[in-house]
Amino acid sequence: MTSRCRQRRTRCRILEIAAAAATLVASAQGCAHAADIQLGRHLASECMTCHRAGAASSTIPNIFGLAETTLAEVLRAYREKRLANPVMQNIASRLTDDEIASLALYFAATKNP
Ligand code: HEC
Repeated sequence: MTSRCRQRRTRCRILEIAAAAATLVASAQGCAHAADIQLGRHLASECMTCHRAGAASSTIPNIFGLAETTLAEVLRAYREKRLANPVMQNIASRLTDDEIASLALYFAATKNP
């Protein structure tokens, strides 16, 4: 192999790495409605001050293990004030579509956090 050849291969490698990095950045910036379970877990810590793991009280329902589509729909309904609870309306009003999708994914997948 000539040194020129080796150089070209190196350049190719760099381009490949750059392309992979660009893909990563694009997915991190989030395409529409990207559900991310790590983001869901992170956001869920706020919810768990009220919705404790697997324990429903008379006023606060257990939301762990709820179906993903149900959870997302309920959160959107609170956000749009189609459901009446002011506490949940306030919390949901701060959530983006991606955050709702991520929370729904996390709670649906998690029965015993
Ligand atoms: C300050 C306490 C509190 C926090 C924090 C809270 N919730 Fe709630 N949540 C409630 C209460 C109270 C209800 C019951 C509302 C009702 O009866 O209409 C509820 C209801 C719900 C429901 C409907 C469940 C069902 O079976 O009807 C979902 C889904 C939900 N919350 C998700 C969340 C998520 C996700 C978060 C975090 C982003 C969160 N909640 C944070 C108090 C809270």
